Amino acid sequence: MMFAMSRRPCIAANWKMNKSISEADDFLDEFLPTQSAEGPEVVICPTYLALARVAERCAGTPVRSAAQNMYFEDSGAFTGEVSAPMLLELGVDGVILGHSERRQYFGETDPALARKVRRALSAGLMPILCVGESLEQRECGDTESVLSGQVLADLAEVHTDDLDRVVIAYEPIWAIGTGVTATTDQAQEAIHFIRNLLRSRDPEMAERVRILYGGSVKPDNAAELMSQPDIDGALVGGAALDPAGFGAIVDASRGSGS
Ligand code: PGA
Repeated sequence: MMFAMSRRPCIAANWKMNKSISEADDFLDEFLPTQSAEGPEVVICPTYLALARVAERCAGTPVRSAAQNMYFEDSGAFTGEVSAPMLLELGVDGVILGHSERRQYFGETDPALARKVRRALSAGLMPILCVGESLEQRECGDTESVLSGQVLADLAEVHTDDLDRVVIAYEPIWAIGTGVTATTDQAQEAIHFIRNLLRSRDPEMAERVRILYGGSVKPDNAAELMSQPDIDGALVGGAALDPAGFGAIVDASRGSGS
């Protein structure tokens, strides 16, 4: 039996390709005054265009900001990309990497992700690494092999001492934006499996790594998901577009430190 290690819950809003700068302002006008330093770490991930505004407005508040992607090179002829130093200049705290929509629509690969995770860490950014299986893979019984393939490949270049600076988000693709949430048992089981993979690298570090669940998290299912022993928070898409709804999810995670 492993010793219990307290992990601070993390609740991240993945706005995807939603919210202009003025819409981000409207959200923050309502949301920021409700947030206090106690409780979970709250992270907002807007589009690149709204990122400077969100980072600037969150500075000096308990709320943090993160990008939805970045490239592993620092500068150069990489049209359409942004780099870790550019995010740092904005005061951004982290970056989502390997979201299934990027893997599916934009050709994101595990070898590229391994380099992105390493670069984010060396820049001092918190990577939120997304992994998860498709419905077809789950139905074929391949969930564990898909997860281990992604986790081991994407973290291959992370030094063991840095593992606890990575946040992992388990997002079954079949639960993203579909309204179908994984059952708490399915989410716990997959996240427990991921933590066991990390144990094979370093048992003590594995207790420190925060692993979130993502996929149709809503105010009314958040508390139950986060009461599970291995689930350390949520990556929230659709329900994070509304400040009151996202605030309710943040509130649901209070006291769920596992
Ligand atoms: P959803 O998205 O909450 O809208 O299902 C989650 C995600 O893709 O991060």
